[in-house]
Amino acid sequence: MNQQRQMDLFAEVLGAFAGTSGTPISTQDVYRRVAPRVGIDERDLNEKVPIGKSRQLHSPEKRKIRWAQQTLRQLKLIERVDGPRGLWRLTDAGEKKLTKALPDVAMLAFSTDLGIAIWGSCNRVFPHLDLPIALMISSPPFPLSNPRAYGNPDVSQYTDFICRALEPVVANLEPGGSIVLNVSNDIFVPGTPARSTYLERMIIALEDRLGLSLMDRVPWCSNKPPGPVAWASKARFQMNVAWEPVLWFCNDPLRAKSDNRRVLQPHSEKHLKLLAAGGEQRTASYGDGAYRIRPGSYGKTTAGRIPRNVITMGNHCPDHRQYRKDAAGLGLPPHGAPMPKAMYDFWIQFLTEPGDLCVDIFGGRLTLGKSAEELGRRWLVTEWILEYVRAAAERFRACGGFVIGDGLTQFDRVVRAGAKTYA
Ligand SMILES: C[S@@+](CC[C@H](N)C(=O)[O-])C[C@H]1O[C@@H](n2cnc3c(N)ncnc32)[C@H](O)[C@@H]1O
Repeated sequence: MNQQRQMDLFAEVLGAFAGTSGTPISTQDVYRRVAPRVGIDERDLNEKVPIGKSRQLHSPEKRKIRWAQQTLRQLKLIERVDGPRGLWRLTDAGEKKLTKALPDVAMLAFSTDLGIAIWGSCNRVFPHLDLPIALMISSPPFPLSNPRAYGNPDVSQYTDFICRALEPVVANLEPGGSIVLNVSNDIFVPGTPARSTYLERMIIALEDRLGLSLMDRVPWCSNKPPGPVAWASKARFQMNVAWEPVLWFCNDPLRAKSDNRRVLQPHSEKHLKLLAAGGEQRTASYGDGAYRIRPGSYGKTTAGRIPRNVITMGNHCPDHRQYRKDAAGLGLPPHGAPMPKAMYDFWIQFLTEPGDLCVDIFGGRLTLGKSAEELGRRWLVTEWILEYVRAAAERFRACGGFVIGDGLTQFDRVVRAGAKTYA
């Protein structure tokens, strides 16, 4: 069975439960509802042929439907009902769960002239890619003890999880290309207020296993809510958190594509006054002579201020307001752990040139694509939760060359068919 037919079958078997409001249906009902929707006529459905060593007569078409049914059962999306044999219903998870791509499924969700969004695991897509990547920027799932709806890796396996996901990206990274990861510093040794050193282990593994060099650990200070509640507000061992690390790696530091002239900031009032005065008027020396000021120092007019390596940026983002509106309009659960578009804008401009390929392997709201579109970079994003991709697609409708792919068509069949409701 080809991948497309498999997907149709999963979608239609789930769709067979549309509108049942939890009332169980029989396997015969599933056959009756699914067959016409995947193009199996009644004669083919009931035609029996000898199968297996025993040569017993079975219907191959019904077997395929039962196989999809069993797979959905293993995924805990449908379940057998206790009591009379052969009755099935959607599980709570099936009613509300996010639609995660199966490991071997990757489908084009939509594309524009500049980029493509793929519904599927990055582990399925990137090993098959053969295109020079200038930048991979992402916030991977954090190893949280209270997992997010989309799932989180365990801290003990985090290094392997990241290395596995990044290996094919690094293999495609052009010389001087970068990897930027927004990670969490707030992972604690279980039961203690001590921070895990998982990030240190991950950084060393990225150097040792994938040959990356750490260019910087940039603190991103934002309007984070107070926490960690258990260790700061309750037990009082810790301070409230104000920042998250953004780690920047490069595969060839001396050929890094970064250029701070693309991200110069306006000079401060104080500096503009200094320039107007022709620079410093005094002579001074600090740090045992390490820093010297002479008349005229800092008097040269420059195009702007080189950014300092601390990013202060709130989480609120107009682009996300639109995303939330779109998700609500479609009745979809919004993705809840986004990076602001300004963060993508900054790193894309700093580390790439127009036309370069930028990717995000853990796409979330697909904000990388939005930023890349506006900045004239090519882009590719993978995200394995269909609902997130579907809601995010709305923001790309006005982009040149916008085309819907099979991934979103699946969405309209599975989710919009009413098999699911979102409480
Ligand atoms: C922290 S969120 C990323 C948020 C994103 N940077 C944004 O600004 O919207 C992590 C995302 O990675 C997705 N994800 C996790 N594992 C994945 C995989 N193997 N392939 C593709 N997406 C994955 C999750 O569903 C989740 O949406």
